[in-house]
Amino acid sequence: MSEPPRVEWEEAGLPRAARWRSEAAVPPPKRVQVTLDTLPADAAYRLASEGTALLWRSDFQNARNLLQAMARRADRKPRKPVAAPASATQAFHLHRQAQGQRARVLGKLLVELEGDYRIALPRAPDLRIACQQAWGPADGEPSVASLRELLGIVGAYEWRRKGVEIPSLGAPPGNRIHPHYGVYSPVRGEYLDIVARAPLPSRELAFDIGTGTGVIAAVLARRGVQRVIATDQDPRALACARDNLARLGLLQRVEVLQADLFPTGRAPLVVCNPPWLPARPSSPIEHAIYDEDSRMLRGFLAGLAGHLSPGGEGWLILSDLAEHLGLRTREELQGWITAAGLRVIAHEDIRPRHPKAQDASDPLHAARAKEITTLWRLCAG
Ligand SMILES: C[S@@+](CC[C@H](N)C(=O)[O-])C[C@H]1O[C@@H](n2cnc3c(N)ncnc32)[C@H](O)[C@@H]1O
Repeated sequence: MSEPPRVEWEEAGLPRAARWRSEAAVPPPKRVQVTLDTLPADAAYRLASEGTALLWRSDFQNARNLLQAMARRADRKPRKPVAAPASATQAFHLHRQAQGQRARVLGKLLVELEGDYRIALPRAPDLRIACQQAWGPADGEPSVASLRELLGIVGAYEWRRKGVEIPSLGAPPGNRIHPHYGVYSPVRGEYLDIVARAPLPSRELAFDIGTGTGVIAAVLARRGVQRVIATDQDPRALACARDNLARLGLLQRVEVLQADLFPTGRAPLVVCNPPWLPARPSSPIEHAIYDEDSRMLRGFLAGLAGHLSPGGEGWLILSDLAEHLGLRTREELQGWITAAGLRVIAHEDIRPRHPKAQDASDPLHAARAKEITTLWRLCAG
């Protein structure tokens, strides 16, 4: 295993170093300036934009305020008018570029953690459990991370603690899914309504490919499917799915397996909700949204017929946002279905209900407003 990256800086005339933590695999900053809360927000924003990281040594809550002030500066409209993007595809690429740039600048405000994940700053919260959940048990070594990343970890801890209500799992309280850090959270859960009502070809066995939190496997098991095999490649997703299925009392009927797409064998029902945008993920946690070259989608379609029992059905859940962004055409999707020896039995559409779909200030609003998620019922032949 390669050594974890380290960040180096000078403090009080002495060289210092610590382990560098970045889930997005951002390399450690080369220029680090020890920073107190006397630094004005404009100066902090300028330094961060120029690539200097600011290692915070003052009150923790003031660091949060500074991060917000920096975010306001990052979100200011440019003074000179900018030409409207020529196409939805260009709007998408510009939007991702801008998001990346924003993340780089805001990620320059750093905080040091002690070897047990404590933060030795005035008014710092106790983030030990949140950090353990995201990074694993503390190993005694001090580390440095961006405050933005730490706040993301706190947000994920809260999501995991509270859970997300999934009406298709039944009545409360036994209908919550608790997403773990870095695992795709079914907050855009409208597609689950279709999974909950599409006619089941059999109640004997189903495969859930790319299970994430385990939510589809859980919906199928609650619908009475006797045995479900749920796969994922990501160890965090596997742990998360097991945790959720255990909480829901379904672990006896659902087996969670590490696999690239399919488990061995065939099933009368094989379900998959792949990441819906064919673009390169810019960090490991984006793997649930971006599927470079449609690798998972094409792999699922290409392998489906070989994993269906006679008369079985494959359910592909897919948003058409990529089509509205010019990243994939409907003809391409239909071509992959046909080339895989599959046929569409029926399909059911649903409009996303998430707030982003209604947000007119979102640069991708025009495409998002048209987005439809479809459950394609496929069979071999
Ligand atoms: C969009 S998320 C869907 C998660 C879950 N099924 C749901 O509906 O909430 C896609 C999932 O597929 C997983 N995944 C990506 N590539 C995979 C592969 N080749 N084999 C298995 N799982 C994969 C990701 O880790 C992620 O958990």
